[in-house]
Amino acid sequence: MTFAASTINVETHRLPFEAQHDGRFKGQSILSISQFNLDDLGYVFDVAEEFRLMVKRVGSLNLLRGYILANLFYEPSTRTSSSFLAAMQRLGGTAIPINEVRYSSVSKGESLPDTIRTLEAYADVIVLRHPEVGSAALAAQYARKPIINAGDGIGEHPTQALLDLFTILQERGGISGLTVTMLGDLKYGRTVHSLAKLLSLFDVQINYVSPEILRMPADLVSQLAAKGTRQAEYTDLREVLGATDILYVTRIQKERFTDPAEYDSVKDSYVITPEIMAQARPNMVLMHPLPRVGEISMDVDSDPRAAYFRQMEYGVYVRMALLALVLGKA
Ligand code: NCD
Repeated sequence: MTFAASTINVETHRLPFEAQHDGRFKGQSILSISQFNLDDLGYVFDVAEEFRLMVKRVGSLNLLRGYILANLFYEPSTRTSSSFLAAMQRLGGTAIPINEVRYSSVSKGESLPDTIRTLEAYADVIVLRHPEVGSAALAAQYARKPIINAGDGIGEHPTQALLDLFTILQERGGISGLTVTMLGDLKYGRTVHSLAKLLSLFDVQINYVSPEILRMPADLVSQLAAKGTRQAEYTDLREVLGATDILYVTRIQKERFTDPAEYDSVKDSYVITPEIMAQARPNMVLMHPLPRVGEISMDVDSDPRAAYFRQMEYGVYVRMALLALVLGKA
């Protein structure tokens, strides 16, 4: 398949962007968002945009016919696992879904490297979600086929960050100059870890709003500060709401707490309601990786600024692009 001239410029979104379609992701694992530079993003988003238009026009393609994805999830997932399955199927491929490792040989004590070696004997690419930081990198050490990190504990969630950025581009037409406010559990939330790193490639202001005990990890903040990213930390959303272009809300990650009392002390820290939206900019984009457990009231869903359901759909196109790219078919 060949692609028409690029339609998205990740920097300004105004001019056609000539990303090199040179097969650079073929056979590669996607482990961390730090692997991506601006040119790579143009490449991935070009392909994602092309797939978005093609899905709208024809529903599905035959690009990955004969290819098999192993979807290996050691942690719960609705969106990430189903969107990878949908992405594979929309490209004409098939999948081995392993959502309940309880029912696989993992429950007999099989190690991650052995499970990976097994699945790569059957599949061409493996999507892995696992509770331990660094698990995807470990799997990639043993695998001959590409591993895609679908969340490694509190570490990273690179494909989510890519779809988040693709959403911002689709909703706002560009990134430069935006103020992005991340709200909620910034300590344990892997989506914000990857997204903050990704945004540091652009000229943006990042605000972190969280309870004191759930602040963005200090090493990540200093890593970004060293690159010149403008960042500020708050506990009260009201201090930055009026200046925010993108409000990225996250769930307090209950499963990561060792002390239930500590979770109880922060679980209802922030709730986005229509009253709060009334104080936000008219063109603010409200995002959430989902699932939500009360931090965005359902009364907000009909607000045109609520982008979280559109965000899920964009995820399918970005994951289609990633699968096609690592399989060398884009
Ligand atoms: C996120 C995750 O798993 O990190 N969900 C997702 O992939 N869309 C966010 C979360 O679980 O809170």
